[in-house]
Amino acid sequence: MRVAFVGKGGSGKTTVSALFARYVASLGDPVVAVDADINQHLALVLGLEEAPEPLGAHLTEIKELLRGSNPLIASAEAMVKTTPPGRGSRILRFDDLPYTVRTPEGPRLMATGPFSEDDLGVACYHSKVGAVELLLNHLVDGHGEYVVVDMTAGADSFASGLFTRFDLTFLVAEPTRQGVSVYRQYREYAADYDVPIAVVGNKVHGPDDVEFLREHVGDDLLTWMEHSTAVRAMEQGRPFTLDDLEPANAEALSVLVKAVDSREKDWVRFGHQAAEFHLRNARAWANERTGLDLSAQIDPGFVYGPASLDCRP
Ligand SMILES: Nc1ncnc2c1ncn2[C@@H]1O[C@H](COP(=O)(O)OP(=O)(O)OP(=O)(O)O)[C@@H](O)[C@H]1O
Ligand SMILES: [Mg+2]
Repeated sequence: MRVAFVGKGGSGKTTVSALFARYVASLGDPVVAVDADINQHLALVLGLEEAPEPLGAHLTEIKELLRGSNPLIASAEAMVKTTPPGRGSRILRFDDLPYTVRTPEGPRLMATGPFSEDDLGVACYHSKVGAVELLLNHLVDGHGEYVVVDMTAGADSFASGLFTRFDLTFLVAEPTRQGVSVYRQYREYAADYDVPIAVVGNKVHGPDDVEFLREHVGDDLLTWMEHSTAVRAMEQGRPFTLDDLEPANAEALSVLVKAVDSREKDWVRFGHQAAEFHLRNARAWANERTGLDLSAQIDPGFVYGPASLDCRP
């Protein structure tokens, strides 16, 4: 199952996604956390001194790996972030996800790599996140396996098809007007694409905060994290384990896990949208960039989901 954490800058995406990943690992389940944010911060919060090999530096290898022997994709150069899998492509199981490192508490970590100021708003930024989109497009995951993506702040996360690649998207929102404004934006995009979202309140100080969130996001409010002294202590460099987390916050994490576990995978929507975003991308810039008709990369005979593992080369 794949989950994304989105929300306003500073709302707590990195903190909550890291806590979620650690919590899942503490239950004994496999989890890969993915840092897809502009400011790469997840390694630190997961207790790693050094960030893993950045995906952005291995884009060509990733493309070579994924295109496998798919006859519709002539070379890595012909592959763009939305190029969908087809017959012959290398389909990944959860354990095949490349470029991950183990963090001290158990979650594995994968990172897009840092973005420089120059990357922002241009192709580079999107191609780094594009590695994540490609990997997710070629991944067949199931219940009890968790990919947790810490996304970039604000509306940037729906600049590509990436936001449709998840079984559930958690929108982290502080109980402030700005906090819920990202929710409104996201809700509209999500509704247009049938993307399931749930709001996780964060840094909640009391019943008035909960009331505020309820008023603005209604039933989309799944649960909330209280302002945490333990998290603050961790930020101050003091040792932290999940046992230090306040019981209400640990309970909130368990609510998140249950919400993910209760989702059914929708491989049909997944496949339709992979093709839809690829066509859109092809028309917008990718045909011109590659000098190819990229719509020909869509394999109408390819079946998404577990069935695609059977015809692995
Ligand atoms: N529940 C919480 N209790 C106390 N502090 C928190 C909580 N959640 C987040 N914080 C603190 O708020 C700050 C911002 O959190 P975090 O870095 O996770 O946000 P972010 O949404 O990932 O930010 P960015 O948009 O910069 O990536 C951090 O100092 C973090 O420790
Ligand atoms: Mg962050």
